[in-house]
Amino acid sequence: MRELILDTFNNRYTCKGYDNTKKVSDEDFRVIMEAARLSPSSMGLEPWKFVLLNNKDIKEKIKPYSWGAEVSLDGASHFVLILARKQKDMKYDSDYVEYMMNDIQHFTDELRTARKNKLKSFQEDDLKLLENDRAFFDWSCKQTYIPLANMLTAAALLGVDSTPMEGFDKEKVEKVLIEEGVLDPEHFGLATMIAFGYKNREHRPKTRRSLEEVMEVVE
Ligand SMILES: Cc1cc2nc3c(=O)[nH]c(=O)nc-3n(C[C@H](O)[C@H](O)[C@H](O)COP(=O)(O)O)c2cc1C
Repeated sequence: MRELILDTFNNRYTCKGYDNTKKVSDEDFRVIMEAARLSPSSMGLEPWKFVLLNNKDIKEKIKPYSWGAEVSLDGASHFVLILARKQKDMKYDSDYVEYMMNDIQHFTDELRTARKNKLKSFQEDDLKLLENDRAFFDWSCKQTYIPLANMLTAAALLGVDSTPMEGFDKEKVEKVLIEEGVLDPEHFGLATMIAFGYKNREHRPKTRRSLEEVMEVVE
């Protein structure tokens, strides 16, 4: 198991060029999306949505504003937008929080009240998010990097190449997505993108600082 873990992380590379004739199987893509869906989130509120973008027109429209996604928009088998929820959904007293705690987490009335009180003080006092739309969105965005990472690892385990992306002009891409009816700006913003497929060129060797450099032990 240790060897498998290390091999997987050592052999995962960001794909910088896709073979557009090769498709990821439905079965593999489904497993990758399950890795996203099953990811943990703060208080289990799942502040994300994943959009599989197959529409070629929309891909062409966002390309000019997505410098980091050009090769993926052209050649990747699957291209996914990761959306993050805004204050309207993530605030302790929102309809979405109520839905999550009631319909998904199945909390009793008593537990739901306690959790909402906790969420209120967490958002107000600890995270200091309240009445700051950008802070709320960034809180959600930070959490989307967990499914992003899990998808990268799941893909690597399946031998699927992938590209995580934040190289885009958020406002301009969002404008296109809103116009095309892909993104509801009241509830969501664009956090990141991720593509899957099979590479058409070799990547540069992996470079990382040593474990000694990135880790410190405090006794
Ligand atoms: C949050 C994040 C955003 C990234 N954005 C882009 C991007 O827009 N386009 C791209 O080609 N690569 C992008 N990368 C890939 C990085 O350049 C890459 O992970 C890094 O150089 C290390 O290389 P490796 O993934 O091959 O190990 C991104 C990676 C992360 C984690």
